[in-house]
Amino acid sequence: MKTAFVFLGLLLMIVAAVANGSGCCDHAITMFEKKMETLVMELKSSCRTPPVASSCQELHKKDPSLHSGVYELVFGLQKLPVYCHIGNFGCGDGGWTPVMKIDGKKLTFVYDSGFWSNKTVFNSEGGMTGFDQKETMLPSYWSTPLSKICLGMMIHGKVNYVVINKSASSLHSLIADGVYRATSLGRDKWKSLIGSEASLQRNCNKEGFNPVPETWRKTRIGYVANQENNCDTCDSYVGFDSKGDMSCGNYASYDADNGDRRTTTMGYILVQ
Ligand SMILES: *[C@@H]1O[C@H](CO)[C@@H](O)[C@H](O)[C@H]1NC(C)=O
Ligand SMILES: *[C@@H]1O[C@H](CO)[C@@H](O)[C@H](O)[C@H]1NC(C)=O
Ligand SMILES: *[C@@H]1O[C@H](CO)[C@@H](O)[C@H](O)[C@H]1NC(C)=O
Repeated sequence: MKTAFVFLGLLLMIVAAVANGSGCCDHAITMFEKKMETLVMELKSSCRTPPVASSCQELHKKDPSLHSGVYELVFGLQKLPVYCHIGNFGCGDGGWTPVMKIDGKKLTFVYDSGFWSNKTVFNSEGGMTGFDQKETMLPSYWSTPLSKICLGMMIHGKVNYVVINKSASSLHSLIADGVYRATSLGRDKWKSLIGSEASLQRNCNKEGFNPVPETWRKTRIGYVANQENNCDTCDSYVGFDSKGDMSCGNYASYDADNGDRRTTTMGYILVQ
């Protein structure tokens, strides 16, 4: 790199001297010098290697000047370029590591999909872009420790977010065993992922990871409800994946508070 800068400096001097000699105005020289300085600065910053990190939050802490973008992260023995979201896009400050992107219309990540437990990467290219339509499951699911989970659902082109405060060795450790782990966001907060169209039945009302592992409309992360005063046959949920014909969004039938719904959304899961 050093030789390149020396060369650039030399080039700058020669050009300046020639321009001077040929009576070219000082203004042109100054402009040229400024352009060269900018070029050198850009070269310097693109040559700086980002720190080695295993999460976007670690990357952000090691170098707070980094912006959102694609960075190579180390997941155990695996290195993978992922899109790090840095700064507050709706879930608070810091560096957010993407974990999953779920297309509610597809069945890739339905409740019984092996992906929730078998530690298999799905479409890693989807992890290199932001809040778009590409599905992905990244190794951050089983290898990134977390203290916060950011959930987003895209509806009518806008993403709504909620944050769960929860510490764990990984998201996999909270989900893969199928055990119920409660959260306490509340019904309205879960509905806010969908907005005014959200609909849920009035009973059962369980939320978290694997709320009600055995029911009709079950979910890995979300809120489930029923019209009967028990959780045996829930026909409504807001959540990430479900049993049946959709995998993310809001489903509601049988006396739900805002009518029958089958709203599929893109779902985004990130951790910090
Ligand atoms: C431009 O020419 C003048 C005299 O003609 C000289 O004093 C000056 O050092 C020259 N500047 C450059 C950048 O070569
Ligand atoms: C994990 O589960 C998914 C979905 O069922 C499947 O496509 C994939 O091959 C499985 N991976 C392994 C290693 O069994
Ligand atoms: C989560 O923790 C943050 C502070 O880290 C706090 O501001 C926020 O209110 C908490 N959210 C919930 C739902 O408890």
